[in-house]
Amino acid sequence: MDHFNYRNGHLYAEDVSVAEIAASVGTPFYVYSTATLVRHFKLFDDALDGLDHCICYAMKAASNQAILKTLGNLGAGMDVVSGGEYRRAISAGIPSEKIVFSGVGKTLEEIKLVLQNGIRQFNVESESELKHISSVASSMNTLAPIAIRINPDVDAQTHEKIATGKAENKFGIPLSRARDVYADAAKMPGIDIVGIDLHIGSQLTNLEPFEKAYQKLADLTQILKQDGHKITRLDLGGGLGIPYGSEQSAPPLPLEYGKMVKKVLGHLDCEIEIEPGRLIVGNAGILVSSVLCIKSGENRNFAILDAAMNDLIRPAMYEAYHDIVPIEQQNASRAEKVYDVVGPVCETGDTFAKERRMNELFENDLVAFRSAGAYGAVMSSEYNTRPLIPEVMVNKDRFSIIRKRPSYTEIIDRDIIPEWLK
Ligand code: LLP
Repeated sequence: MDHFNYRNGHLYAEDVSVAEIAASVGTPFYVYSTATLVRHFKLFDDALDGLDHCICYAMKAASNQAILKTLGNLGAGMDVVSGGEYRRAISAGIPSEKIVFSGVGKTLEEIKLVLQNGIRQFNVESESELKHISSVASSMNTLAPIAIRINPDVDAQTHEKIATGKAENKFGIPLSRARDVYADAAKMPGIDIVGIDLHIGSQLTNLEPFEKAYQKLADLTQILKQDGHKITRLDLGGGLGIPYGSEQSAPPLPLEYGKMVKKVLGHLDCEIEIEPGRLIVGNAGILVSSVLCIKSGENRNFAILDAAMNDLIRPAMYEAYHDIVPIEQQNASRAEKVYDVVGPVCETGDTFAKERRMNELFENDLVAFRSAGAYGAVMSSEYNTRPLIPEVMVNKDRFSIIRKRPSYTEIIDRDIIPEWLK
């Protein structure tokens, strides 16, 4: 459920008309709903009620500080994957003891940065990284809290580009090596073992792969505890999917996920950490765009928008489906036509939807891509020297620009012309 609904025929974000934002900000832009963000965070929090738990929002999904602050005010921690994300989280006021540092390759500078400023734990992805962390921490005379990411070799049954839990994926260490690696870690200077980590993929639409992986995690927890390790925390990663509108069946709700977590891991006396990204912010954001041109090809109708693949790359990159709806509901009474909905970028991949049946579109119509809050703005680029589009946040009847559209001068002036070309 989200807070983008029609009122008297106009699409609203909470109590603000989307057309009004468009008139003020100009298209294209992203808009997020505070109420939806809050609702989704609370769904997870309630689902894990009764378990000692920490929700570390995977800020890679949408990292604007207004979003981080909204979640931070509810008690959220953050899952970060770079020094840049760490700095952003700190700048948004997230306490360092609630920040988990994940990611397959961390530089020595990043390790040093977080050790200097504080961290909840490093999620370690390889033996080589473990050594790097050990050497930086011991050179600083400090202890690095760590969990080692296990690759459980489970098929997440999701798009291959976002499946991370199979043996052939680059993530984590093989389960079969876990005992040895933990034994080594325990002997390393500067290393403080606090738990175990895993994350098997994103946009999972059923619980079975989670349950399989968590069962393996439960078994490993008992073994490592018997080996004498201090396993007090289990990081379950993120991955719970959201309905985009093209799924065979609705993805499980956080409540069902929470029940399963309690069943499989509840008896282990460990704090449970989860790292949801998409489920928190996916349905809390839409991308608003306007129709530039309509063109009838030999055997296709093209609706050309002012948004492009550089603004929302998910359809081009993962063949992702996003619902595209009119801002003015009366347009939904127009006759249906079939469109390829495309952007203005010079490649055929710049296609948001192929042969989509929609109500007839005309120039200057406003449309919204639903469920564009996660992996939308954060994955955008300036390809074709198209400025990054603004982000707007709504809270009841107020809205505010939370990232402004840069000027062309700002973009162009970043280039440096070498002396010899002047
Ligand atoms: N934790 C780790 C270690 C992750 O790698 C990810 C996502 C998450 C948590 C959050 O997963 P979520 O709850 O959002 O599924 N750009 C792709 C998704 C990439 C996901 C990468 N890792 C997309 O647009 O579908």
